[in-house]
Amino acid sequence: MKTFDDIEVRRPALAKSYLALIDAQPGRPLAMFAPRRVGKTHFLDHDLAPAARRAKWLPVYADLWLQKSAPLAAINHALEEALDEVNVPAGALGRLAKTPVKKLGALGASLDLGDAPSRRPLPAAPELRLDTLVVRLAEAAGRPVLLMLDEIQALGDVPDGERIIASLRAVLHKRRDILKSVFTGSSQEAMVRMLSTAGSPMYQFAQLLDFPVLGDDYLQALADHFATVHARKSLKLPDLQRVFARIGHKPGLMRDLVKALSAEGQTDVDAGVKRFLQDGRQVAGWSALLQPLDLFERALLLVIAQGLPPMGRDTLDRLAQAQGGRPTVAKVRAAIERLRRAGLLARGGNGSTAIDDPLFAEYLQGRTLEQLRAP
Ligand SMILES: Nc1ncnc2c1ncn2[C@@H]1O[C@H](COP(=O)(O)OP(=O)(O)O)[C@@H](O)[C@H]1O
Ligand SMILES: [Mg+2]
Repeated sequence: MKTFDDIEVRRPALAKSYLALIDAQPGRPLAMFAPRRVGKTHFLDHDLAPAARRAKWLPVYADLWLQKSAPLAAINHALEEALDEVNVPAGALGRLAKTPVKKLGALGASLDLGDAPSRRPLPAAPELRLDTLVVRLAEAAGRPVLLMLDEIQALGDVPDGERIIASLRAVLHKRRDILKSVFTGSSQEAMVRMLSTAGSPMYQFAQLLDFPVLGDDYLQALADHFATVHARKSLKLPDLQRVFARIGHKPGLMRDLVKALSAEGQTDVDAGVKRFLQDGRQVAGWSALLQPLDLFERALLLVIAQGLPPMGRDTLDRLAQAQGGRPTVAKVRAAIERLRRAGLLARGGNGSTAIDDPLFAEYLQGRTLEQLRAP
């Protein structure tokens, strides 16, 4: 039986257009940006990778956020796994013919194999290993590789991140006939900063795109399923649209909300959000976000959630309450930077600093500094 969890929106047309963009710019990755939990990873997995396979590319996925301590090793590991998979196919008959391919066309691009040695052991130096792996994988698979690097801005947090970006860039350029790439990032700023560190402006390196949020089809599917569960009740699309925007277009969160409404047999979506904000599990999650922060950082989050400009006179006065004395602007700046890196702050629409998660912002708005002392 279908449940709310089974509802999924596929975006084959978007995937196809991304592949066409990548294909049209050899050596230049596509960097797609959207806040957390908007559906980037889901898209890579359920839309882009299948579309790539249909176009006879070999998609390889690496999550750089999960592998923060050794991102280049994580990329190499993903390529090695893919190489094993091609060399020792899982199926009894083998999924690919073993005849070596010299030249292959895919979406108009021709595959011209590089000159890396394929019988010698892989080089130990991770940069060279990356290059060799790409060549061997494309050769073994007989198709170009689509390297999907999820949460690329994580490279900005590692000591050798700049060097890794530079090697990636070099390999992407050198192997542009057989290597295509797509990056995702949850922090536009961190992503731009990081991609710009490779010696020239970011836009020369990668094409930055805003990843579109899910549209009404997802909300309608939720409403339709709600209607099948509750014969005489329905959720109104405009309500769902308003709330979807309010929670930052996060489909997983929206689904949880509608599930909660369904369990209670309620149809007032806004009231549902309100209950959600008071839900013990949600509150526990936000408390956990606040836990590692000092009181000054918590107070800063609070004033930003309240919409005050972080460097404004009022803000500094309020922050003075948290630490007994007016903070310097430098101290505020440093705290903002830390909170950004922790993913709690992001750039708002007009370039101002804002809480990344709008629902977390609402939660903060309902608190006082006193309450934040012991979240
Ligand atoms: N196209 C989609 N259809 C249905 N649910 C989706 C879709 N995309 C994302 N989701 C839901 O949203 C959640 C968060 O998506 P995810 O891809 O992990 O976000 P991100 O990678 O941007 O942080 C997923 O677990 C999934 O439940
Ligand atoms: Mg993700």
